[in-house]
Amino acid sequence: MSRIRIGSIAVLTLCGLAIASQPIKAADAPVAAAYPKDFTKWKAVTRMALVAPTDRLARNFGGVHNTFANPAALEAMKAGKPFPDGAVLVLDLFEDGGTAGKPSEGTHKGVFVMHKDAKANPTTGGWLFDEFKGDAKDKGVVTDGKKQCYSCHATRKKTDGVYSTVK
Ligand code: HEC
Repeated sequence: MSRIRIGSIAVLTLCGLAIASQPIKAADAPVAAAYPKDFTKWKAVTRMALVAPTDRLARNFGGVHNTFANPAALEAMKAGKPFPDGAVLVLDLFEDGGTAGKPSEGTHKGVFVMHKDAKANPTTGGWLFDEFKGDAKDKGVVTDGKKQCYSCHATRKKTDGVYSTVK
């Protein structure tokens, strides 16, 4: 009789642990960034062409890209401060449609987004990431922002995960 009781106490304890650990897991899960509306009206911070897609960076961003910062992101960049919640940066990518030596915007390849929301994902420096292929606006393709995006961006420690700078 006493053995059965011990057994049922053990089972109950395990269930309790499983339930207790669930909310922690949910908070740690990567949450993707939404498609930002009208970002081309924001300040364009950089314009760059990567026309020889050989390394990992060029495979991601090969072509011509423009980077935009919303007002909250721009203010932090100018002040050299960490980005506040609500800061959004967008890398808008095109095929190189230009002639040799003169890159220009060709077919739209997609939109890369990073959105600061410290509570939503503390494991990626508070950044949410997503990539929207071509002209897709409603569904992004990133399934693990930490692995697929933050793996590189994390190296930019001094600038809070961001590569682009403003003068
Ligand atoms: C191979 C390393 C690498 C990976 C992986 C990577 N990035 Fe980047 N990302 C960069 C570099 C380098 C730049 C700066 C490009 C430039 O100079 O314009 C950049 C720029 C950006 C920018 C503009 C803001 C900034 O930091 O300058 C956004 C937004 C961005 N990436 C989103 C993403 C998203 C979303 C993913 C995942 C789908 C991703 N990145 C994966 C290296 C990477």
